[in-house]
Order: sequence, then structure tokens, then C-alpha cells
Amino acid sequence: MRRPLLFIVLFANGSCEPRKELHWTVRTDARRVDVREATWSPSNAVRSIRQIGPERVELTLRSGFRGTVQLEIPGACPVVESFAASSADRESEAYARVELPEYLSDVGFDRDVDVIATSRCGPVPSLTWSVATGKSTTLKVAQDGTQVRVHTPRMSEALAPAQSMLPTWGIVPIAPRTQGEIVIEARAQGIAKPYRVVVTSAVRATGVPTVPAGGHVYLFGEGWSATPDVHGHAPKLAAQNGFTQVETDLSGKFVLRDSAGKRLGVRFGRYDEMPLDCARAGCHVEVGQTIDKSPMTSVFEHGLAGAFGPDYDATCALGCHTVGEPGQDDGGFLHLAERLGTRIPTTPSPEWFANMPRDLRRTSGVGCMTCHGPAAIPEPEARARILRANVCATCHDAPPKYNHVSAWQSSRMANSDSKKETRSGACATCHTTAGFLVAIGARKPREHDAFEDGEPMGITCAACHSPHAANSEASLVRKVPGVDGASAAVCVACHGGMRTEKPEDLPAATSALLLAAPGPHTTERSCLTCHSQPRGSESSGTTHSFRADAKTCTTCHATPPIEAIAPEQASISARADRLFGKLVARGVILADPGSTPHAGKRYGIAARSELAQIARSVAMVHDDKAAAVHNATKARQILDEAERVLR
Ligand code: HEC
Ligand code: HEC
Ligand code: HEC
Ligand code: HEC
Ligand code: HEC
Ligand code: HEC
Ligand code: HEC
Repeated sequence: MRRPLLFIVLFANGSCEPRKELHWTVRTDARRVDVREATWSPSNAVRSIRQIGPERVELTLRSGFRGTVQLEIPGACPVVESFAASSADRESEAYARVELPEYLSDVGFDRDVDVIATSRCGPVPSLTWSVATGKSTTLKVAQDGTQVRVHTPRMSEALAPAQSMLPTWGIVPIAPRTQGEIVIEARAQGIAKPYRVVVTSAVRATGVPTVPAGGHVYLFGEGWSATPDVHGHAPKLAAQNGFTQVETDLSGKFVLRDSAGKRLGVRFGRYDEMPLDCARAGCHVEVGQTIDKSPMTSVFEHGLAGAFGPDYDATCALGCHTVGEPGQDDGGFLHLAERLGTRIPTTPSPEWFANMPRDLRRTSGVGCMTCHGPAAIPEPEARARILRANVCATCHDAPPKYNHVSAWQSSRMANSDSKKETRSGACATCHTTAGFLVAIGARKPREHDAFEDGEPMGITCAACHSPHAANSEASLVRKVPGVDGASAAVCVACHGGMRTEKPEDLPAATSALLLAAPGPHTTERSCLTCHSQPRGSESSGTTHSFRADAKTCTTCHATPPIEAIAPEQASISARADRLFGKLVARGVILADPGSTPHAGKRYGIAARSELAQIARSVAMVHDDKAAAVHNATKARQILDEAERVLR
């Protein structure tokens, strides 16, 4: 917003002529140079100097001064302006002596990339270069230290760490961990903060076939071709690194086909082309109301309000706190800000946020389009892709700081549906994300969710978290109808096997059942006491493997009993095995116990047998490989009772 011009009426030397005072605003990159250290010549030219925000100063010229002023700021190119009698207020920019691109994005895999420093005033001073994060096979400094060459990784190498969570067909999802990122730092003498140049081989991608225009996406599979639209336009395809690279410069919907003729409908669009606010336009009102409470929605605003500390630099987190990929012409936040010539403050500034243009506001925060993509919703057969962890990975998979996805990937839950039999019928209600969401009424059954023929994705973030429907607000943990309690209710929904009206109709998963009985470990946080840790750790998300380790015991036990329980567990397991064998021998448990791990009907417990109840309890203990921790007292009681009856 422009400030109103300030007129000061001067009555000097008996003159009644109102004389306009001239203001000269100089702005610069506050990360590089401090405008307050400016000096000027001639020294009588300036009456006063005033700081406006972190990157601007306003100089008030001495009344009546006419002529040329030169401004010198350490680390910046000199700024020269001439003022004549008819001059109006001026704005100029003091450029840092060294300039480097902040982002070199989408440069391609397995490529040499030159990072070149420039200057608007004279020769570039020599720089000291280093690789801050990422891997580059070379860091070749050339041209007297003003230029450096890096080499980006091969695509298969970049994707390798996420291999187990990738689909095998269609758009290749790409996260910060896999986008072949190399961050280079350059230091120049006389400039306080180092320059950071972020080089990325590829643009991040959710894998949902609604993609931002202006860059490239990659496809799994071979022999892809594109059908031209009615105007004869078609995206350009090129083989690269064993993948197919698609140029997304066009906007609109296109049909691609692989060598077997299998069809993939893809929509390309710019974020700023979306004509309406998805939730505010009256289309998804309920979604909009819930999502307003999510800290993701307002994260950019909070940063500028100072919630993350007085030194927080919002420009470092644009890729994850706003819509769009920094460095891309995709109509995202940074692209729009650059187009509007708006500089984003590098220290908190609530006023800046309050006065932000509307277009920028729409793309600030983790808005609808960050997860769903720009343009319209994808075709029905592609919609299940929104459920994949890859969507959340575009921000939550950035080790070493953000580890939720990599930790989750190491859990058995990430592979719960890798076997085909777990993707059908009742099994799918606990072993697949879509099946679970349908079973608890959080998703309409969809012909095309196709978890039976579809690609496995595991129990993903969207199973336990609800970004914009009933959630517990704390950590957006999904609320499950019919299961009360704190966040752990979502665990019990599957691990309790108590979701259906007739529990005997479904194989019951067991671990939680033992905890349901009173015992020392039955607490408000339930499963999370040991299988999760509340936030606060430096590298967030490391406990999303959901393993209970010794550290979690020490919040209550002076010495972690985790090693000591092995003999107890061995004894419980041995007793349960023996009893299980006896129940099979007596024809109470009918099925092959090796067939599945679940207690209940799965084992074919003869419902009419008077021993059915005991058989269920024994199976429950038998199946819980951590019964000695979950509830040793209850487990021993069950085994004692069963041994008495089956003597
Ligand atoms: C953090 C990621 C994220 C954001 C941001 C987000 N969504 Fe979603 N959305 C999802 C996921 C995941 C699902 C599927 C699971 C579910 O329904 O909870 C979904 C489902 C939906 C559905 C149902 C679609 C279907 O196929 O059933 C609609 C409609 C929707 N979102 C609209 C919106 C709107 C409107 C906004 C912005 C106000 C928004 N979403 C923001 C992740 C997100
Ligand atoms: C009520 C929810 C639920 C249903 C329904 C269900 N499971 Fe499971 N399943 C689980 C849970 C929870 C675990 C992990 C339990 C554990 O390890 O203690 C699991 C674990 C498994 C394992 C891994 C066991 C191991 O120790 O390696 C297999 C295999 C399995 N289930 C197969 C099936 C099959 C096949 C079906 C359908 C016939 C099925 N499940 C139905 C919840 C369920
Ligand atoms: C099995 C259920 C489950 C799955 C799957 C899951 N989460 Fe969580 N998540 C939780 C629970 C429960 C909490 C609350 C933790 C607590 O209170 O100890 C949580 C907390 C979080 C938090 C906030 C607290 C923190 O650790 O900083 C984030 C962020 C998060 N999850 C992201 C993710 C992402 C991203 C994924 C997908 C890779 C994911 N979660 C998958 C259950 C889950
Ligand atoms: C565009 C980046 C982005 C995407 C995509 C994204 N998140 Fe987030 N998420 C964030 C940021 C940034 C925060 C931190 C918000 C804060 O601390 O104020 C966050 C916070 C969270 C939290 C913690 C909420 C709390 O109460 O503190 C959860 C849970 C979470 N995200 C889950 C998800 C899930 C599930 C998905 C995928 C469906 C997802 N996120 C996709 C950026 C993203
Ligand atoms: C949608 C159903 C579902 C939900 C919700 C769920 N689980 Fe699971 N969980 C499973 C299944 C299925 C497995 C077994 C996967 C397999 O072995 O194939 C499993 C496995 C596990 C394991 C063994 C992991 C390992 O790597 O050995 C732990 C621990 C676990 N779950 C804890 C939790 C906790 C804690 C929560 C709540 C925050 C939770 N689960 C929520 C279905 C679920
Ligand atoms: C007092 C701590 C504690 C609590 C509370 C707890 N667990 Fe565990 N759990 C453990 C330990 C320790 C193990 C063994 C190490 C591991 O697998 O993480 C374990 C193992 C498991 C396993 C893997 C068992 C197997 O067959 O391999 C599952 C599944 C599980 N817990 C689910 C749950 C669920 C669901 C809850 C809540 C209803 C829960 N746990 C509550 C400590 C706990
Ligand atoms: C919320 C606090 C809390 C946490 C966390 C906790 N415990 Fe306990 N635990 C207790 C209390 C209280 C008792 C009962 C008093 C006692 O025996 O010390 C107990 C008892 C036990 C017992 C004896 C049970 C019996 O009946 O013989 C074992 C074994 C045990 N804990 C293992 C663990 C392990 C392993 C962990 C970590 C994975 C753990 N506990 C985490 C509170 C906790």
C-alpha cells in the first residue's frame, strides 16, 4: 500500500511559498546489506533518515536541495539520483554487490549446472563456495571464484530412498527428499549472511494427475504418447533416465497413453488461473470451515506474526508454507510476488501480511491446491491417489528436519496391503486406507478406489489424519465414529477389532484388546504413551515408525524394562502356544492357525462350544507379541484360567 504523501508547509525566510519536501525511498535486500549504515555525499543533501520496515529507508532531502546525491551502503552498489526543482518523490533500489539466483529449479537429473554470480557494479568479488545439503559429485569452482559447477544425481538414485512407497504407474511423485536438491552456499567478503542457491533436479509432485503448468513431470513406464487437444496442442514427451519427461507448458486436460494403450488423463494449470476460492465460493463450504482451524492453513500468517520467533525468515519456507514451487513460473505465491514486485519480509511483519494483495493471500498457507493441485479435480479413477502418503510427502518428507514420512515408511503399517489378499473383503477395512475410510463412513464407496486391483499404498497419513473433516484438532487426528477417547481412538479402530456390530464376523486384531482391560499401562494417551511421542523433538516425526523403544518407557520407569521383559514374553508366548494347540486338538479352534494372525472367526472358533470365550481370549494373548508389556497381569490371568479349565 502506498503511504499518503506528506506535505509540510514551510515558512522560511519570510517566504509564504509552500515548498514540497522531497522523500527518497531506498530499498534493498535486508539479508545482504543494512541500509541504516548508508552514508551520502554531498553530506548536506539529506536532512533525516528513517527506517521503514526491514528493507527500506526513507531519506528526507534538505529543503531546497537540488543536485546529485550518491548513496554508499557497505556491500551494495552505489546509488546515484539527481533531483531537480520539478522532481517528485523517488524510489530506488540498492542492489547487493554480488547477485546470485535463489532458485535454479527443475534443472533435470544427471546434469551439469552452472551457478553464476553477477554484479551490477564492476567485477564480482571472489566467493567461497560450499555444499550445504544434498549430494553433488562435483563442485568445480571456475572464473576466479565467481562461478561453480555442480552435478545433479541420477533419477533412480534420487528416488531410491522412497522406492517402497512409490506407485509403479503414472505420474512419479517427488518429495523434497527425492527431488535431487543441492543447496549451495556462497560467502562474499563484506556481506554478512551467506547466499543460498537451491538447485533442484525436479519439481515436487503429489502424484495426483492435476499438476501445475510451467515445469516438468515424470512418468513411470515406457512408450508414452499424448493425444493432441482440439487445437492440435499436445504436451511434449521425452525419454529421460528410464522415465518419460512431460513438459507442462500448456493448460488444460490431456490424454496420455502408455505402450499398452492404458490411459492417463492429466490436467495442467497455473495456480493463479483457478478462478474461485474452492471453499469460499460456496462449493466446499464445510471443508473450508474445518480447514480454517488447521494450523497448516495459517502457517504463513503465523510465521509473519512472529509465532516462530523474532528471527524467523518466512522466505526460507515458501515451498512448504505457501502454494507453488519456488523458482517455477507456476502462478504460485512466490511467482506472483515476483510479478507484483513485492518483496517478502525476512523478519516477522504482521502489517505486511495484513496489507498483502488478494491474489497473494489466496496462495499463502497450505491451501487446497497444495494437496489437490491446481485446476479441476482429477478423473474418478485417479482420485484415490489423494490418499497416498506421497501427497503429504511434498512437505513432510524433508529429512533431516522433517521425518514423518521416512519414519512411517519403516513401519509395517506402510506395507499393510502389499499382499493382494489383504486388499479385498473384510481385510481391506483394516489393511487399506480407502477401505478403512469407507468402513468408518469418512469416504463414499467408490467404484474406482479399486483397492483390490489398485496399487498398494499402506495405511497412509490420511487414514489417521483428517486435514478437513472430523478431527481432534490436536494434530488433526481423525475422529472415528463410535470409538471415544483421545487420539489413540484411531488406533483402536483397527487394533481393537471392535468396530463391527458383530465382532465375530470379523477377524479381530488383538493388541489393543489386552490394554482395554485395566492395568498399569491403561492411560489416557493409551497406545500413544509408548508408540508415539508428542512433538517437541528437534527432528520432528522420528517417532512416526510407531515403535515403542526404551526411551518411551523412561518417562515412567527409572530403568527401561524393555530388555528385561523378553523372558516374561517368552514364557507368555510358550504357554499361549501350548494352550492354542490344545484348543485345536479339542476342535474348538478349527482353522489352521498359520493361515492368518488374527484371533476371532478367522481361526474358526466353534461359536457354540462352551470353550469359545476362553479360546478367543487365548488367541488374543497368543497373537499379541508384546502381551508382556501391553498387559502382563491380564495375560497371565487369562492363561492361568485357561490352564485350569483345559487341564
Ligand atoms: C493437507 C492436504 C489437503 C488440503 C490442504 C486440502 N485437502 Fe481436500 N483432501 C485431502 C485428502 C487427503 C482427501 C481424502 C481423504 C479425506 O477425505 O479426508 C481430501 C478430500 C477432499 C474432498 C473429497 C474428494 C473426494 O474424492 O471424495 C474434497 C471435496 C476436498 N478434499 C476439498 C478440499 C478443499 C475445498 C480444500 C481447501 C479449502 C482442501 N480440500 C484442502 C487433502 C487435502
Ligand atoms: C479389524 C481390523 C483388521 C482386519 C479386518 C484384518 N486385519 Fe490383519 N491386521 C490388523 C492389525 C491391527 C494387524 C497388526 C496386529 C499385530 O501385529 O498385532 C494385522 C496384521 C496382519 C498380518 C501381519 C501379521 C504378522 O504378524 O506379520 C497379516 C498377514 C494380516 N493381518 C492379514 C489379514 C487378512 C488376510 C485379513 C482378512 C482376512 C485381515 N488381516 C483382516 C487388523 C486387521
Ligand atoms: C497410524 C496412524 C498415523 C499415521 C499413519 C500417521 N500419523 Fe501422524 N500422527 C498420528 C497421531 C496419533 C499423532 C499425535 C501424536 C501424539 O499425540 O503423540 C500424529 C502427529 C502428527 C504430526 C504432529 C506432531 C508431530 O509429530 O510433529 C504430524 C505433522 C504428522 N502426524 C504427520 C503425519 C504424516 C505426514 C503422515 C504420513 C506419512 C502421518 N502423520 C501418518 C497418527 C498417525
Ligand atoms: C504444502 C506443504 C504441506 C503439505 C502438502 C502438507 N502439509 Fe501438513 N503441515 C505443513 C506445515 C508447514 C505444517 C506446520 C504447521 C504449524 O506448525 O503451524 C504442517 C502441520 C501438519 C500437522 C500438525 C498439525 C498440528 O496440529 O500441529 C499434521 C498432522 C499434518 N501437517 C498432516 C498433513 C497431512 C496428513 C498431509 C497430507 C494429506 C499434509 N500434512 C500435507 C505443510 C504441509
Ligand atoms: C486402518 C487401520 C489401522 C489404524 C488406524 C492403525 N493401525 Fe497399526 N497396524 C494396522 C495393520 C493392518 C498393521 C499390520 C500391518 C502388517 O503387518 O501387514 C499394523 C501394525 C502396527 C504396528 C506394528 C508396526 C511394526 O512396524 O512392527 C504398530 C506398533 C501399530 N500398528 C500401532 C498403531 C498405532 C499406535 C496406531 C494409532 C496411532 C495405529 N497402529 C493405527 C492397522 C492400523
Ligand atoms: C506400556 C507401553 C505400551 C503401550 C501403552 C502400548 N504398547 Fe504396543 N508395544 C509396546 C512394546 C514395548 C512393543 C514391542 C516393541 C515394538 O514392536 O514396538 C509393542 C508392540 C506392539 C505391536 C506389535 C506387536 C507384534 O505382534 O509385533 C502392536 C501392533 C502394538 N504394540 C499395538 C499397540 C496398540 C494398538 C496399543 C494401544 C491400544 C499399544 N500397542 C499400547 C509397548 C506398548
Ligand atoms: C505412563 C507411565 C508408564 C510408561 C510410559 C511405561 N510404564 Fe510400565 N508400568 C507403569 C506402572 C505404573 C506400572 C505398575 C507399577 C510397576 O510395576 O512399576 C508398570 C508396570 C510395568 C511392568 C510390570 C507389569 C506386570 O504386571 O508384571 C512391565 C513389564 C512394564 N511396566 C514395562 C514397560 C515398558 C517395556 C515400557 C516402555 C515400552 C513401559 N512399561 C512404559 C507405568 C508406565
